[in-house]
Amino acid sequence: MKQMDAQWWKKTVCYEIYPSSFQDTNGDGVGDLKGITSRLDYLASLGVGCIWLTPVYASPMKDNGYDVSDFYKINPLYGTMEDMENLIAEADKRNIKIVMDLVFNHVSEENAWFQESKKSKENPKSDWFIWRDTPNNWRGIFGGSAWKWCEERKQYYLHTFGDFQPDLNWENPEVRKALYDVANFWIQKGVGGFRLDAVVYIKKPQDFADGKPDASDGMVLIHEMTANRDGILDYLHEFKKNVLDGKNIFTVGEANGILPEQLKDWVGSEGVFDMLFEFNHLQGGDIWYNPIVLSTLDVKNAIFQSQKATALNGWYPVFFENHDKPRSVNAYFSKAADKALASKALTTLLLTLRGTPFVYEGEEIGMTNVDWDSIEAYHELNSRSQYEMALQEGFSHEQAIGFVKALSRDNARTPMQWDSSPNAGFTTGKPWIPLNENFKQLNVALQEENANSPLAYYRRLVNLRKQSPVLLNGNFLPLLADDPQIFAFRREFEGKALTVLVNLSESEAHYDSSILSGQKLLLSNRNDASVGILRPLEANLFE
Ligand code: GLC
Ligand code: CA
Repeated sequence: MKQMDAQWWKKTVCYEIYPSSFQDTNGDGVGDLKGITSRLDYLASLGVGCIWLTPVYASPMKDNGYDVSDFYKINPLYGTMEDMENLIAEADKRNIKIVMDLVFNHVSEENAWFQESKKSKENPKSDWFIWRDTPNNWRGIFGGSAWKWCEERKQYYLHTFGDFQPDLNWENPEVRKALYDVANFWIQKGVGGFRLDAVVYIKKPQDFADGKPDASDGMVLIHEMTANRDGILDYLHEFKKNVLDGKNIFTVGEANGILPEQLKDWVGSEGVFDMLFEFNHLQGGDIWYNPIVLSTLDVKNAIFQSQKATALNGWYPVFFENHDKPRSVNAYFSKAADKALASKALTTLLLTLRGTPFVYEGEEIGMTNVDWDSIEAYHELNSRSQYEMALQEGFSHEQAIGFVKALSRDNARTPMQWDSSPNAGFTTGKPWIPLNENFKQLNVALQEENANSPLAYYRRLVNLRKQSPVLLNGNFLPLLADDPQIFAFRREFEGKALTVLVNLSESEAHYDSSILSGQKLLLSNRNDASVGILRPLEANLFE
């Protein structure tokens, strides 16, 4: 049976897959498309109706696929176009749609478009990228100047991310048309939607003026200058018109820095996308030696605001993890916290807040951060440049590696922990990145056998959600807004209500039980639940 409902994405769970680390089938140590296909039944058992695949296009893999050399080809590391078509078809049989990642702010330096553009100022693709004779003081998100000298053309080009990721010039209508063609090609292939990578950065201010320095090197982080600039929505509406209009295609934009009050321009009837990932509730931030540390109250406020902003118009993607962030059980809780309970506490929020839950691979079993002491152990490039930046600011190795441990993107990129066999059932070869050492204690197979595991709790909640019109459609009412420990709210729909109470702190919390107005306990992540008290990390649902 096919989901034909135009808003199918409101009622399902989206699952993000980082293909390199999910399931290898040919023993080369890198996950592949066939591996994803082989795990579709597992995903269906998690209530997943939509898989967001991080980029699987041809790529030199300097930023693990976010450096695309050819949008029309599948990366041979992951398989063939036939494997992709097979994945789409097999997913479809299980009522699962595939969502592709559109990396439209930049491409790889190896992309033919850039290879042409860099040849000369006379080349027909000369201004497909952003070329200048002199750089300004912008710093790339992965460190260093955002401008790179090109000897061949004798000019600098702009790169928001790595210096091998030249930014496309969206001012040029040919560039925009080429990108819309890419999206339409994938729609023809049968994908169900798109996640738009780094989409808030596509429009640059045309004066390219220096920004106010934010560190001792005199530079300013590029996105302070380029995020959400005037005129960006005109381009995005044009994208919508040329790619989305009249089709049942789901979209979610990655929108670091968009504020709740700006959401209405981006999502809903006047907006462009169905949903937008904003990052206001996430720990960490962009400069790791000076991390953003949110209290429970801050996290609550951020989420409450987004819930409010999308209450009448638009829709909210609920998420605590992705392939760029540390594992949530580490990011939101202390080292000493009981991680299984912490995972269940967050799963409660993930599956009961108003919106579409986005689960990141391994989150459903409560996978944790790695603990690598040497910077050489880290694969992803931002860890290395953040480490260097910290040293330059005068921090010691211990301090700098501490920042990396807390925020490295590799935390989320270690292989999926399927079972206790060698390499956790991920590969028969040598994994491209080491496994987390805890895989023998923490894996899918063990949790499938344990009725008290995070995975079992996840499944109980996902089934509840699937059958609950209140959780699927109900409105959102914040409760105990000023409580520093408890994340509480009520969902209401057609005279029915569910109240959710989660103690995000690691000590006991008390609340006035009159807020429950006689509701009965429906589900708890602990066996010893009682009314008016929440033990550390306890989550209770009342009906
Ligand atoms: C996004 C991706 C990240 C990537 C960057 C550059 O933030 O999520 O993984 O490195 O864009 O494409
Ligand atoms: Ca492989």
